[in-house]
Amino acid sequence: MELKANADGSLLLTKEALDALNISLRPDSSILIDGYPDSPTRAHSPLGLEIRETNPQLRRVYIEPTTKCNLRCTTCIRNTWNEEFVNLDWNVYERLIDELRDASHLERVSFWGYGEPLLHPRIVSMVAAAHDLGVKTQIISNGMLLNESMASDLLDAGASSIIVSLDGAGNQSYEGVRQGADYDVVVRNLRQLVRLRRRRVVNRAGITPVEVGIEYVAQASTIDQIADIHALAADIGVDFVFVSNVLPFRANDQDELLYAASVYGQRKTPRIYLPPMDNKNGAAAAIARMVKPDEPIHYLQHASGTCGGYCPFVGEGSVVIGAAGQVAPCMALLHSAPCFIMGRKKSMNACEFGSLSKSDLGTIWDDDCFRAFRDRVQRFDFAPCVQCTGCKKAKDNGRDCHGSPFPSCGDCLWAQGIVQCP
Ligand SMILES: C[S@@+](CC[C@H](N)C(=O)[O-])C[C@H]1O[C@@H](n2cnc3c(N)ncnc32)[C@H](O)[C@@H]1O
Ligand code: SF4
Ligand code: SF4
Ligand code: SF4
Repeated sequence: MELKANADGSLLLTKEALDALNISLRPDSSILIDGYPDSPTRAHSPLGLEIRETNPQLRRVYIEPTTKCNLRCTTCIRNTWNEEFVNLDWNVYERLIDELRDASHLERVSFWGYGEPLLHPRIVSMVAAAHDLGVKTQIISNGMLLNESMASDLLDAGASSIIVSLDGAGNQSYEGVRQGADYDVVVRNLRQLVRLRRRRVVNRAGITPVEVGIEYVAQASTIDQIADIHALAADIGVDFVFVSNVLPFRANDQDELLYAASVYGQRKTPRIYLPPMDNKNGAAAAIARMVKPDEPIHYLQHASGTCGGYCPFVGEGSVVIGAAGQVAPCMALLHSAPCFIMGRKKSMNACEFGSLSKSDLGTIWDDDCFRAFRDRVQRFDFAPCVQCTGCKKAKDNGRDCHGSPFPSCGDCLWAQGIVQCP
């Protein structure tokens, strides 16, 4: 779409323009506009412009069906817990679905969290009820229980995205991380899922409506597997491999980090801006040779705007419902746990803005404290703890040195794009 400038050079963001940008502003919202200072394309490209709503509409609901699990992955937050493992109560879920029928901006319901979603006895009905809302549904599973009948049931229930975690290519590396799992079973289940998906009706554009993906958590001890995981994904026929860095929950796991230089921006060679390029005459290998040991591997990535972070949860209008019915703004604040940020031990304390066993989601979402928190996160003027050497205040996510109250997000690796989810 095209917007014409006014005689004085100003520009009105019309309702039509906002719709084209998928921005539906609540009456009491502001939008924050920023440029990417480090981008050579700044002001010439829409990629050089960042637009955020201070009070986003509710667009995504993440649901943790259970905190029970059949595995003991070395990376998992559950290793640090004393919490009781519970299933989300079906009545709570039904009430939530009833309420979401009126959530006119809702785009997606995702089923994951800290537990194995397929262990919830009514997971298929959960997906079906969310699908009936007319929105996308996503599920992330460890794949062990994704046998033929479960895969068929999920496809019949209307799952639009099924993602299986695969932290290695081969029994030894995969089972070393995913303790209690069987690599052969998970790969067989994935192949079967892709076969079943192929047999389903394809939509008119010829694109299969259900996407199947792999999530791989990159660690120093398994990063040599990334090409094998990608090759396996191509062989199986999945649509994408999604890679996240690891957030260590145990002191020993800090050796597994692959982002120390990336966070601190230690660059020994000049920044290079590459255009899209074919891998011809060894182009990819030549580009790889430019990366010096311990240097960040990002050539195209823009530095974030003048704001020091972007929260993918709050920015996308998300809310997270934990298995106990608690309502949190993001996965990082769903459970309390100690973790390790850039070599520093930090207590991440959970932040609940209410519970679905006591209130409804609309009331919790519109609560002044929750709204004020979303506003703070979108502005992101938290103290830049991730890039700092640390101080006493950074031992937990309480008030930071800029005066931001609990929960402060300046140390959050999700907001820096280091840890990410599909
Ligand atoms: C917490 S799991 C829950 C769903 C399911 N149990 C599974 O493992 O796929 C969701 C995703 O988070 C990833 N994950 C687990 N621990 C992580 C960590 N310490 N840092 C980053 N991602 C992690 C998992 O590999 C998985 O892909
Ligand atoms: S399967 Fe998922 S929830 Fe279970 S231990 Fe592994 S990462 Fe954690
Ligand atoms: S910045 Fe991090 S801690 Fe803060 S709301 Fe977003 S994901 Fe949660
Ligand atoms: S609170 Fe301030 S001084 Fe302390 S780690 Fe964060 S940015 Fe650094």
